[in-house]
Amino acid sequence: MGKDDQKFITRIPKVELHVHLEGSVQPQTLLALARRNSVSLRYDTISGLRKWYSFRDFNHFLNIYLTISSCLRRAEDIELITREFLIGQAAQNIVYSEVTFTPYNQYVTSGLGFHEQMDAVNRGRAWGEKELGIRMGVIMDIPRHITSENGDLIAKWAIERFGDGIIAFGLGGPEIGNPPEKFRDAFDRVRAAGIPCILHAGETEGPSSIWSAIRIAGSRRIGHGVRAIEDRKLMEYLRDRQIPLEVCPTSNICLKIFPSMEKHCLPQLMESGLYVTINSDDPPMFNTTLTKELMIGWKTWNWDRTTIEHLVLNAVNATLLPEKGKKELQENFIQQFEQIR
Ligand code: ADE
Ligand code: ZN
Repeated sequence: MGKDDQKFITRIPKVELHVHLEGSVQPQTLLALARRNSVSLRYDTISGLRKWYSFRDFNHFLNIYLTISSCLRRAEDIELITREFLIGQAAQNIVYSEVTFTPYNQYVTSGLGFHEQMDAVNRGRAWGEKELGIRMGVIMDIPRHITSENGDLIAKWAIERFGDGIIAFGLGGPEIGNPPEKFRDAFDRVRAAGIPCILHAGETEGPSSIWSAIRIAGSRRIGHGVRAIEDRKLMEYLRDRQIPLEVCPTSNICLKIFPSMEKHCLPQLMESGLYVTINSDDPPMFNTTLTKELMIGWKTWNWDRTTIEHLVLNAVNATLLPEKGKKELQENFIQQFEQIR
């Protein structure tokens, strides 16, 4: 593969399934919001933020993530980051994204009401559809460090706004010591309301976390899921049912899940016939984008165009779009792949 292949990766249409809204704040916007909202950050330059985004481990990352969330204090901040997120997606030809959003963090640090936040996201979404012609849906998640009672509150929010921007319910944050079982009631409630669940699992915690995500919440896809590699039975289960994994390679290196890209288990997951999608997680925090993640696969594992097309179509077919919409998107993508090839 040469320059033409890089051009191919850049130009093809894409879908992204695992990307956090608050983890996508542009560095210059973060600096401006921190200043505007009187939050003092450790660094006040773009190059300083690059240093700040150098993580010792998951907990160190989470601390910084929560500090970023604490810079979002007004509804217009949420609308701004939604618009900028969509501009970044459109620049990569990502036509549809399923975006994780954790309003509870802003509710606690800024007192910003959930409905106000959701209205702001929806204004950003409507703007993106009109001005950029791209779409997004929100996976609202519980951050695992909170109490189960507060998890119930988030479930109530999700039920109130399901279908009005919210497409699914999730679980993120510190996996170790906070299993899905802690939020069993919340998951029971949202599932009874017909809301699909998509949980982070098998990132900093092992296979038991993935089993729980499936058993407790019926997780439709698994956020990360890379540690399934440690359990042969789980690998077979995921393969037989083709439960999609949302793999975020650079995130896993930045958070020390694997020591290097060469040691990442992604090739084994693919060779074992698991359903894999590629994602960016928190792009500016990991100095990446979905396009860069595909480039990394090409460089590290010699992915050819057919492999890249396959991974992109996997993402399309693992969306929560209605079957008809999925099929239309798939046909449109295949046509565009042929033209761009
Ligand atoms: N929130 C943002 N990024 C996350 C990740 N990689 N794992 C869990 N929670 C997160
Ligand atoms: Zn994530």
